Amino acid sequence: MTDELDRVRDHYRATGLTDRLKTALAVLGSEEQRLGPEQLATLDQFHTRGLAATAELANLAVITADMSVLDVGSGVGGPARFLAAAHGCEVTGVDLSEPFVEAARYLTARTGQDGKVSFETGSALALPFEDGRFDAALLQHVAMNIADRPLLYREIRRVLKPGGKFATFDVVLNGGDPLYPVPWAKTPGESFLLTAEATCEAVEAAGFGTLVRRDDTAMAKAWFAELRASGPPPLNLGVVMGKGFAELTTNLGRNLMQGRLGILTAVFEAVPTKAL
Ligand SMILES: C[S@@+](CC[C@H](N)C(=O)[O-])C[C@H]1O[C@@H](n2cnc3c(N)ncnc32)[C@H](O)[C@@H]1O
Repeated sequence: MTDELDRVRDHYRATGLTDRLKTALAVLGSEEQRLGPEQLATLDQFHTRGLAATAELANLAVITADMSVLDVGSGVGGPARFLAAAHGCEVTGVDLSEPFVEAARYLTARTGQDGKVSFETGSALALPFEDGRFDAALLQHVAMNIADRPLLYREIRRVLKPGGKFATFDVVLNGGDPLYPVPWAKTPGESFLLTAEATCEAVEAAGFGTLVRRDDTAMAKAWFAELRASGPPPLNLGVVMGKGFAELTTNLGRNLMQGRLGILTAVFEAVPTKAL
């Protein structure tokens, strides 16, 4: 593992995560009681606008039941469980953080989705899958932890079939220096943000054509304003990331409100290799 990947793993180390989840989820019923994926949505969708953002991205990518979908940087597995439940597809998640993968498997057992949804520990920069295995790939709030974007997007292109969809939802630079700490990095040295333009250029250079490109900053700002007014729900990402997480989320909101950062939604299509 490189220093950079070690730093990312440290950031998402989440000691005792599965036990903390078990304790927090006791409010929803006993360990034997099956949970609906939507009951977990306030703590298992680790990105701006939560479940609504995943649902929109899946619709934009036109995910269907016959697809095999890869979620790159799958966190504790909320997006993967939602995709399988709402679209009927098979989903594989891959994440660098072992505690997150363990927690994702635990939560998937609680929702009874083990047959359709699975998780592996691995790096987005060396995906543990053969060429052309997937019909679609999702990448939500992950790229800002990754310096080598050309390699990231080439790896995603490699594991997709020609014509496969790549849907990304990420934080981007937007004309100012970000305030730290933020949810993905305690310091600027752990953060590798690009502008929306540079992100799309890097994706296209890896063998993709752009289908959809949208600036979702305004919607994200509205979501943060609402969150500030209502306060966090009882089951929230603090269970996953620990007590200090609220400050990191607040800083992301400030960065968006002050025009330092933006939110990019985009869907690409894998160009057949011969056309490259
Ligand atoms: C902010 S969370 C987003 C999780 C998930 N995509 C979601 O939206 O719920 C970022 C995730 O990316 C993972 N990650 C960061 N760099 C990675 C890499 N190089 N390879 C695999 N996973 C990575 C982290 O471990 C973490 O789980």
